[in-house]
Amino acid sequence: MEKLFASLNSFVTPDNWPGELFLLPQDAMRYIYQFIVDNKLQSCIELGTGFGATSCVIGAAVRELGGGQVITIDKYLHPHVNAKVLMRHVGLSDDSIDVVAEILGYNWYLADLLQEQTHNGVCTPLFDFCLLDGAHEWEPDALAFSLVAKLLKPGGWIAIDDINFCLRMIPTWQKSHGNYTDRELDTFQMRMVYELGVQQHPDFGDFHLTHEGRIGWARKKHIVADRKTSVAERIVTLFSRSHTKT
Ligand SMILES: C[S@@+](CC[C@H](N)C(=O)[O-])C[C@H]1O[C@@H](n2cnc3c(N)ncnc32)[C@H](O)[C@@H]1O
Repeated sequence: MEKLFASLNSFVTPDNWPGELFLLPQDAMRYIYQFIVDNKLQSCIELGTGFGATSCVIGAAVRELGGGQVITIDKYLHPHVNAKVLMRHVGLSDDSIDVVAEILGYNWYLADLLQEQTHNGVCTPLFDFCLLDGAHEWEPDALAFSLVAKLLKPGGWIAIDDINFCLRMIPTWQKSHGNYTDRELDTFQMRMVYELGVQQHPDFGDFHLTHEGRIGWARKKHIVADRKTSVAERIVTLFSRSHTKT
């Protein structure tokens, strides 16, 4: 991991490049790296590539596990600095991350994946981990969660960035989101996705926030095991009730 971060930190951005390479703090990126390695999350999808820093983190963590599958999706392959440029810089092979630029956005890409994975009306999940760090808006991210939830394997994890963020916090919001309503600008929209979408989803649990409330985590339940347990629990409860009455 140290080698990767040394390499990322040594990347020299082009003169007058207006971007910010590290859109997540480095301690959060290190946490994600270690989380993937510790939990052996070998099949990962990132929704919102940005300039590719977190894609490289996920790609390098999966490489440390001996390989797997990493897909990162953005509407654009940003000019000058992007996932492909950074992958080359940090020494990740071209085929270690599938860098997807889909102008229609990740929800259309997820629709295609769902279609590919669906046979006889049943979707076979693909991923152990999803990092959702894209639009930061209720629309399209509530839908993104619903779609990717189907593609997460039982036991798989989702991490949602910017739970404690609203669009008005962008220093240049007037330029980027000047035509938005006050409600859209001032609502913590990823918190809405997390609290109303993720935490109320019957298939998810292990909810917790890290990085001062910035990243929201959830794990897809091992549903079959859970259902068996709850049936077993119900039988035990019925048994003990009838036992108490006699
Ligand atoms: C905050 S950046 C991602 C940062 C990256 N995860 C990192 O920390 O290095 C958000 C990215 O999401 C992309 N994005 C926003 N809405 C999208 C959508 N509906 N589909 C695909 N990409 C989207 C933007 O183009 C932008 O590059």
